[in-house]
Formats: sequence, C-alpha cells, structure tokens
Amino acid sequence: MLQPYSEACERNKEPILGVLRSWFLRKGVVLEIGAGTGQHAVHFAANLPHLEWTSTDREENLEGIRSWFEAAALPNLHGPLALDVRQEIWPVREALYAFSANTGHIMSWREVEAMFAGVSVALEPGGCFCLYGPFNRNGQFTSDSNRVFDESLRARNPEMGIRDDQALLALGSRCELKFAADYSLPAKNRLLVWTK
Ligand SMILES: C[S@@+](CC[C@H](N)C(=O)[O-])C[C@H]1O[C@@H](n2cnc3c(N)ncnc32)[C@H](O)[C@@H]1O
Repeated sequence: MLQPYSEACERNKEPILGVLRSWFLRKGVVLEIGAGTGQHAVHFAANLPHLEWTSTDREENLEGIRSWFEAAALPNLHGPLALDVRQEIWPVREALYAFSANTGHIMSWREVEAMFAGVSVALEPGGCFCLYGPFNRNGQFTSDSNRVFDESLRARNPEMGIRDDQALLALGSRCELKFAADYSLPAKNRLLVWTK
C-alpha cells in the first residue's frame, strides 16, 4: 500500500504540538480518535516520549496508519486500533489524555456526541481532551475560507459541517467535561481543551 500523506498535517503538527506540550504534562496514555494518516501520531509520540500514544480510527484507515507506524518504530506509539466512536465498547478503556484532529466536521453531530460521551468515560479524573479543527465562533464563520469549506462539506454529506463552539461547550458540559482553554492556531483553526 502507498503510504497515505496529508500536507495539512505537516503544516499543523508543530503548532498543535506547541499546545499539547502545555497540557499533556504527565506520563500517561493518550487515546487518539480518527488518526487519519498517522502522521500526527508519529510526530507527537516522537516529541512527547513520556506519553504512550495510542491511535485509533475506522477500520479502512488502519493499514495506512500502520505503514507510518512501522516506518517510525517508536516504542511509545501503539495501535492503530479499530474505533468507530459509535461502537459501545471502546478498545482503550482508560486514558489520561484524549486527542482528535479534524474530526468534528467530518462526523455527523450524533457521532460528535458519541465521541464526547466515549471520551468522558475513558478519561481518568484529572485528564484532558484536546480537539483541533475549524470551529465557528458563537454561530459565525471565522473566515470566508471556512464558510466555503462548510458549504463543500454539506454538499458532500448534509450531516457534515463545521461545528459551533457553543454547541461543543454545551455538549462537553453534558458529558461532565469542563471547558478549559481555546487556542487560535494558523489557518483559522483552533484547539479546544476540556478537563475531567
Ligand atoms: C479529515 S480526517 C482527519 C484525520 C487526521 N486526524 C488529521 O487531522 O489529518 C477525519 C477522520 O475522522 C475519522 N472518522 C470519521 N467518522 C468517524 C467515526 N464515526 N469514528 C471514528 N473516526 C471517525 C475518519 O476515519 C478520518 O480519519
């Protein structure tokens, strides 16, 4: 299999790592949801060796992720494990941290709800969840490019779309996750942090 490659991951991995360094401080397991190509996981595991980085995604992406993991051969990089957030039993039952990038607008809202509920169950008290991506601010697009992107997503699948930060905050509260921080990152993307 040809190794999958995401140019966006190469651009955003350093800014995201800068934020993770402030939150993923202690030794512990990270549960990554929707790992995509696996490039983020390789970069973060290599730069945060105190973490046991455990990637998951839907079955169809696992082979590509595995090709990155085998090439990287990092002792603290685990998986990839199959996880669709809608499944009842998750393969990682306990984690100090959870991370997901660019998944909120690809998942349906029901799936986003399932992701938050599952993260809340898996996270240890004192842990945190970092969610990266484009988000609307108080119901408004934060750029023309995000508006155009949202239109293209909804044309592809009406269940997809850029999520609103206030809806995510309310969802976090329902799942007993406390909203902790909001970082503005390049290309009008943000990284939202919740703690448990
Ligand atoms: C745009 S990609 C982002 C991949 C990677 N995190 C990145 O930032 O490049 C969206 C990811 O969400 C995953 N995804 C979509 N629906 C999902 C679900 N129901 N459960 C788990 N992952 C899902 C896809 O398989 C895909 O890997």
